[in-house]
Amino acid sequence: MKTKYFDLSRTDGDAAFEECGEIIRSGGLVAFPTETVYGLGVSAFSAESVPKVFAAKGRPSDNPLIVHVAYPEDAERAAVTCPEFYELAERFMPGPLTVILPKRDVIPDAVTAGLSSVGIRCPSNDAAHRLIIAAGVPIAAPSANVSGLPSPTTGAHVLRDMDGKIDAVIDGGECDFGLESTVIALNGRRAEILRPGAVTREDLLEVLDEVTVNAAVKDPSAAGDRPSSPGMKYKHYAPSCEFLLVDARGDEFAKYVNSLEGKVGVICKKSEEDKFVCPIKYTVGDEDGVGELCHKLFGFFRRADDDGVERLAAAVPDDAGRGLALYNRMIRAAGGRITKLTV
Ligand code: TXA
Ligand code: MG
Repeated sequence: MKTKYFDLSRTDGDAAFEECGEIIRSGGLVAFPTETVYGLGVSAFSAESVPKVFAAKGRPSDNPLIVHVAYPEDAERAAVTCPEFYELAERFMPGPLTVILPKRDVIPDAVTAGLSSVGIRCPSNDAAHRLIIAAGVPIAAPSANVSGLPSPTTGAHVLRDMDGKIDAVIDGGECDFGLESTVIALNGRRAEILRPGAVTREDLLEVLDEVTVNAAVKDPSAAGDRPSSPGMKYKHYAPSCEFLLVDARGDEFAKYVNSLEGKVGVICKKSEEDKFVCPIKYTVGDEDGVGELCHKLFGFFRRADDDGVERLAAAVPDDAGRGLALYNRMIRAAGGRITKLTV
């Protein structure tokens, strides 16, 4: 299949959205930017078309998709809401939060992998918003990567994974945040974070009374065979090379990385790059290192593969605030293991 490519920095947006909205309405697949990562969209009402998303990604059919709406009120078209959903929406939507709610019958089982619940998300990215409006239906969309690879955060990443497999790609440049949305299971005034993202536990506590973090967020092995969020049981976000998440900082971390053999790459602060002898360094600045690393992490993983890195090393991040999202993606990319140095 020939994949149509719409570059929003060049094409007339209106015509592109009209065409892509029509593709979605008639059962096709369109990749689009959001403020988190790129999504691979399909009509959430089309039982026949949804399996094409799983096929394009090579995604296991037991891993549910989340449903994207243009306005929080449109959640009614897909899910059974509650007052707390609207309190959360008031504060965090549009934005990078996905709320799991009981699903309505119009949403086919193929979307939710047979679960009776559905994840609802109202993205703040303008292109995402315009596409959903143009389509006129809620859009079911997982991240637009081949299953197991890091989520795409640029149009080029999407083309790399999806060119020839889907109907169209809308390229809106780099995603703002760079990691996927916060996913929560909501129960009255209590919530459980199933996947951490830009909306943090502290943020959620401004609205809710109790917010817990699922054990698998920091320890993927805690997910078991039947995790609360099916996606947790899959190794994800990983570069193809070996990713080492090292429990050390500063000189100690540098000494360890410098002792590694093979073609080594490191993720480090710009101010510390001279400490590393390896040929390949992916750096972030010293100010807001967490925000910058969230934005760049998946791109670094993809570049490491392009650069032929055999072993990529990074220090364990601080898990406070948005750092928890970073910690979660990194520990999963590292196969659940933290490398501890013995002194
Ligand atoms: O930021 C995002 O959320 C991006 C953009 C495109 O919106 N989407 C995304 O979708 O990351 P995906 O499919 O790659 O991740 C959705 C996660 C999966 O881990 C899935 O298992 C979980 O949400 N999930 C979806 N529906 C669920 C449900 N009903 N119950 C529990 N977990 C669910
Ligand atoms: Mg994904």
